[in-house]
Amino acid sequence: MNTKQLRQKFLQFFESKGHQIVASSSLVPHDDPTLLFTNAGMNQFKDVFLGFDKRPYSRATTAQKCVRAGGKHNDLENVGYTARHHTFFEMMGNFSFGDYFKRDAIHFAWEFLTSPEWLNLPKEKLLATVYAEDDEAYAVWRDEIGLPESKIIRIGDNKGGRYASDNFWQMGDTGPCGPCSEIFYDHGEHIWGGPPGSAEEDGDRFIEIWNCVFMQFNRDEQGKMNPLPKPSVDTGMGLERMAAVMQHVNSNYEIDLFQNLLKAAARETGTEFSMDVPSLKVIADHIRACAFLIADGVLPSNEGRGYVLRRIIRRAVRHGYKLGQKGAFFHKLVPDLVAEMGEAYPELKERQSQIEEALKNEETRFAQTLETGMALLENALSGSQNTLDGEIIFKLYDTYGFPYDLTADICRERGIEMDEAGFEREMAAQRARARAAQSFKADTQLAYEGQDTEFRGYTERQTEAKILALYQDSEPVNELHEGETGTVVLDHTPFYAESGGQVGDVGYIFAGGNRFEVRDTQKIKAAVFGQFGVLVSGSLKVGDAVRAEIDNDIRNANMRNHSATHLMHRALREVLGSHVEQKGSLVTAEVTRFDISHPQPVTAEEIAEVERRVNAAILANVAVDAEIMSMEDAQKAGAMMLFGEKYGDEVRVLKMGDFSTELCGGTHVQRTGDIGLFKIISEGGIAAGIRRLEAITGLNALQWAQNQERLVKDIIAEVKAQTERDVLGKIQANAAQTKVLEKELAKAKAELAVHAGAKLLDKAQDLGAAKLVVAQIEADAAALREIVTDLTGKSDEAVVLLAAVNDGKVSLCAGVSKPLTAKVKAGDLVKFVAEQIGGKGGGRPDLAQAGGTDAAKLPEALNSVADWVGGKLA
Ligand code: ALA
Repeated sequence: MNTKQLRQKFLQFFESKGHQIVASSSLVPHDDPTLLFTNAGMNQFKDVFLGFDKRPYSRATTAQKCVRAGGKHNDLENVGYTARHHTFFEMMGNFSFGDYFKRDAIHFAWEFLTSPEWLNLPKEKLLATVYAEDDEAYAVWRDEIGLPESKIIRIGDNKGGRYASDNFWQMGDTGPCGPCSEIFYDHGEHIWGGPPGSAEEDGDRFIEIWNCVFMQFNRDEQGKMNPLPKPSVDTGMGLERMAAVMQHVNSNYEIDLFQNLLKAAARETGTEFSMDVPSLKVIADHIRACAFLIADGVLPSNEGRGYVLRRIIRRAVRHGYKLGQKGAFFHKLVPDLVAEMGEAYPELKERQSQIEEALKNEETRFAQTLETGMALLENALSGSQNTLDGEIIFKLYDTYGFPYDLTADICRERGIEMDEAGFEREMAAQRARARAAQSFKADTQLAYEGQDTEFRGYTERQTEAKILALYQDSEPVNELHEGETGTVVLDHTPFYAESGGQVGDVGYIFAGGNRFEVRDTQKIKAAVFGQFGVLVSGSLKVGDAVRAEIDNDIRNANMRNHSATHLMHRALREVLGSHVEQKGSLVTAEVTRFDISHPQPVTAEEIAEVERRVNAAILANVAVDAEIMSMEDAQKAGAMMLFGEKYGDEVRVLKMGDFSTELCGGTHVQRTGDIGLFKIISEGGIAAGIRRLEAITGLNALQWAQNQERLVKDIIAEVKAQTERDVLGKIQANAAQTKVLEKELAKAKAELAVHAGAKLLDKAQDLGAAKLVVAQIEADAAALREIVTDLTGKSDEAVVLLAAVNDGKVSLCAGVSKPLTAKVKAGDLVKFVAEQIGGKGGGRPDLAQAGGTDAAKLPEALNSVADWVGGKLA
C-alpha cells in the first residue's frame, strides 16, 4: 500500500464512521500567537475543544501538514539520524468534539488497524500504553479489545512534574490537553529496542504509530488545569510511520515517497544513492519542510518563523556541502517533491516557482558564509582537543554569520564538546558593548510603583493632569529644576508613548509659568507613560497640577503616516501577494518606514501600482474607526495581526472602510482624505527576503514633489536643454563628449611625459658599461611604463628606474636595454628597490613594475640604486 493510498484509506474509514473530512490547515497558525507552526492535527480545532468555536459537525477527520522544528515539539536535531523523526510530516487524525470519548476512540483505532477490511495488521504485533492513573482506558484495552495485560503498559509522570508524562499530551505550554493512550507496533526482534517504559525504548523496534488523546483540560498560563466544557478526543497517526509498517520497512525513509526524494537528493548532490548516508536523509526531509513553509507564506529571515525556516534551509545546504556539493542545489529538488505530493497539496504546485526562487536566494547567500565559516571551523577542530572554544563559536557566529546550531551540529557529529559557558560570556560582553554604543534615548528602566497612566490622546490634544512621579536621569526626585533633563509621569496624558512602530509624542507640560519641553514619550511600564525632556523654565514638583499639550503639527504628521502605513500594507499584499508580512515598521512625522517579507526587489511598476491604490483609498475619504473588541471578534472581522505580538483579550481594531482592518493601538486620521498625497520614496533590501519601503504623506509629499521639480529645472538649466524632453539627450551627449575628451587628455599626458622622459637620458649617470637613469617623477603607473620603455628603446645601454608617488602609494618601474639584460635584470632591480619601501614586485629582465607603501623611504632607496647596478656590471 503506498503512502497516497494509506492517506486515502484513513479518511475513508473515518468518513464511514460519521466523521467530516476537513482540509489541512496552513502550517502558519495565523490566529494563534502561542504557536510557531502547526504541530498537530488538533491545532485548527483548538477553539472548538475550548468551547469558543462551534462547527456544524461533532466528528472530524484530517490529513494535516505539521512542522516540528522550533517551539515545544522540536525534532530538528534528530532528523537524519533516526528512522522516524522529521521536520515536516503528515498527521492523520480523528476528532470528537464532545461526542464520543475513550471507548470509541480506542475501538475505532483498533478496527482500522486490525480489521481485514482495512489495514489488517497482525494483532500480536501491537501493544498499548495508558496514562498510569487511567484505569478506564486500561479496562477498555483489556476487557473489550482483549489485549493481554503484558501488552498494556502504564506510564506515569515520567518527565519531572505533575502531568509531565509521555502519556499526557499538551499542545503547548497552554491550551487543551489530557491523558493519552498510544499504540505501538513491534517491528520484530531483528531490530534493537525495547517496549515503551523500558530502558531500551529509544530503539527502533517498538514504534508509536497512533496516539489517542483524551482531551479534558485547558492548561492556563499559571499552569492550572481547567476542565474543558466537554471531554473530547484528538488522535494522531503519523502517516510516514504507518506507511513504513504497511510497506514492511523499519525506517520512514524507506517508504515510497521518501525513496524518490532520496534519489533526487543523491542526484542533485552528485552522490551515489544509499540508505546509509544521513545527509541524504536530512536533505530529503528538509526539502519537504522548507517547500511547504514557503508555500504557506514563510520566507527566510532573522526572526520568528522565518528564522526557523532559514535554519532548516541552511542545515540542508550544509549537508549538501558535506557531500561535496558546493553549488546551489537544494531548490532543484522542488519538482521531485511536487511530483510526490503536489496532488494531495495543490499549493505546492501553484507556488512552485516562488518556492524555488526563495530557496535559491537563500542558498546563494549562505554559500559564502559556509565556505569561510567551515574553513575557520576545520582549522579550529584540526587539533586534538575535545572541546571547541567559546571564543571561536562566538567569532563564527558574530563575524561570519555562522549559526550557533550549525556549529553545534558539526561538533555533535564529531563528538566534540562545545564550550557553551565561554560562548555565553562572549555574548554577554557583546550585549554590553551594544548597550554602551546605543545612542541616547528616553530611559525606560525607571523604578515606578504607582498607578497607571490613562491615555487620552486618541481624542484629546491637551489635558489637565497631575504629576505622579519625576526622575532626573534614572533617579526618582521630588523636584526638577530649570535646565535639568528628566522624565515626568502623569495620571493621564494626551502624549502617545512609542509603540506599534509609531514614535512617541513631543510637546510641552506647563505648570503655571513653568515649562517642560517633552522630547520623547516612552512606556516605562506596560501602562505607565514617561514624558522625557528638559525643563525650560521654572521648576516642577511631584503633585503639581499641570497642563500637558502635544505638538499638533508633529502629531498630525505622525497620524497621516501611520494611517497611510495601514493602507500601504494592504495594497502591498494585494499587489505583491499574501506572502507579504509586516517585518518591522517605524512611523515618524517625516516618513513611514515599512519592512516586508518579499523575496525580490519591488519593481517600479509594482510601486506605482501600490501608490495608485493607496491614493485611491485616500481619495475615497472613508471614515477611520477604532473599536475595542474581544480577540475572538477581531479574528472574525478578519483583522490583520502580527505573529509573535502579545495581544490581550481585548484588542483595538482599526478599520478604514473596506480598505484595511488591523489590530492597532496607534493614533490615526479621522478620514483617509486627511492623509493627503501618498508617495513611496525608496525601496531596498535590508536582509535576505526582507525589503524596506519608505513613504511620505501630506505636506512632506508636496515638499518632495516641489524639490523634484526644482531639481529637474536646475538640471535643465545646467545642461542648457530647451525642454524637459531633451534633457536626457543632452546629458547623454555630454557624457559621450566627456569620454572622448578623457581619451584625448590621457594621450596628451602620455606624450608630454615621454617628452619629459627623453630629457632624463641627458642627465643619466655614466657607469661606463651603462647609462643609469634614476628619478622620481610625476606620472601614474601606466605613464611610468611608457617612459621607461621609451628610454630603454632609445639606447642600447640604458638602465632606468623611475618612481612616482600617488596618494601616498609608490609606483616603481625598471627597464634595461636588451643588450644589457644578461648582466642587469629589471625584475631584480625593481624588487631590490621595492623591498626597501615595504613592497614587492618583479617582472621581465627588460621591464618590470612594482609598488610600495613607505614613500618616506623612497629617496634613500633611489640612492642605493647606483651601487647595486654598479655591482652587477662589475
Ligand atoms: N495531538 C496528538 C499528537 O500530536 C494526537 O500526538
